[in-house]
Amino acid sequence: MIPAMFNLNGRVALVTGAAQGMGRAMALALAEAGADAMVVDLNETGARETAASIQKFGRRAVVARCDVADPVQIRELFSRLDAEFGRIDFLGNVAGEGLLGVPEDISLEDVERCWRNLVLGRFCMCQEAGRRMLAAGRGSIVNIGSLASITALGRGHVAYSMAMGAVAQMTRELSTEWAGRGVRVNAILPAQVVNNGLEHRMASDPCLRDKFLGGIPAGRLGQPDDIKGLSVFLASDASNWITGALIPMDGGNLAMNAGGSVRR
Ligand SMILES: NC(=O)c1ccc[n+]([C@@H]2O[C@H](COP(=O)([O-])OP(=O)(O)OC[C@H]3O[C@@H](n4cnc5c(N)ncnc54)[C@H](O)[C@@H]3O)[C@@H](O)[C@H]2O)c1
Repeated sequence: MIPAMFNLNGRVALVTGAAQGMGRAMALALAEAGADAMVVDLNETGARETAASIQKFGRRAVVARCDVADPVQIRELFSRLDAEFGRIDFLGNVAGEGLLGVPEDISLEDVERCWRNLVLGRFCMCQEAGRRMLAAGRGSIVNIGSLASITALGRGHVAYSMAMGAVAQMTRELSTEWAGRGVRVNAILPAQVVNNGLEHRMASDPCLRDKFLGGIPAGRLGQPDDIKGLSVFLASDASNWITGALIPMDGGNLAMNAGGSVRR
C-alpha cells in the first residue's frame, strides 16, 4: 500500500537513460509507486527490459529510442508522447555522457559534444516537458547533475564540469520562472555511483576506488538504486513546496572537508 502523498497512480513519467543505471532505477521506482512511463534510451534492448519490468508492476510502459543530444529527435519523442499518453507529469532528465580531457589538450569539438549531451539536450527536454506541464498547471522535472555541478573534480573533467554547472543554473532558472505556474524543477547531484564506465576506470587505476571512498563518509560507493527514494519523493505531492533544489546524493561527500577530515 503506497501512502497517498507518494502515490503516482494515473501519472505519466518520461525518463531518459532508462535502459540501465540510475535512469532504469528511477523508472522502476516511479512505476512501483503507480506511474506509467515512457522509457527513453539509445539502447532499445535495455529499454525494452526496463519496460518489461515496469509492466510487471501492472503499469503501462512505452519504449522510445532517442539521442538526447539531438533536439530534432527530442521533438519527435514528445510528439509520440502526446499520441501515446496525452500528458506528462514527470520528466527525469538522466541520459547524457561526459567526455574526459585535460583543459590544455581537450578539443573544442569534444567540449561542444559534451555541452550538447548534457546542456542542450537537458534544456530541450525541459522546454518540451515544461510547455506541456505549464499548460496543465502542474508537473515535476528532475535534472541529474553531479557533484561537478558545484565543485571541481580535476582528472580531466573540465568539459563535464562546465556542462554540469550549467545544469545547476538551468534548474535554478527554470524553477524560478515556472514555480508560480505549478511546475517544479529540481536537480539530484550524485557522487560516484557504480556504472560500467566507473568500474572500468577503477579497474585501470587500482588506487581510484580507495580515493573515492576516502571522500565518502558513508563508506561505500553509490548504487543506482540509491536514486529510487528521491525520485519518488520529487515526482510526488510529498515534495509540493520543493523546487530549485540541488540535492546531493553522495554519502556525505559534499559535507566533508576533503583536506581537514579523515574518514575512519
Ligand atoms: N554514475 C555516476 O557516478 C554519476 C555521478 C554523477 C552524475 N552522473 C550522471 O548521471 C547520469 C546517469 O548516469 P548512470 O551512471 O546511470 O549512467 P549509465 O552509463 O549506467 O547509463 C546511462 C544510460 O544513458 C544512455 N545514454 C547515453 N547517452 C545517451 C544519449 N545521448 N541519448 C539517449 N540515451 C543515452 C545509455 O545508453 C545508458 O543506458 C549521466 O548523465 C551521468 O553523467 C553519474
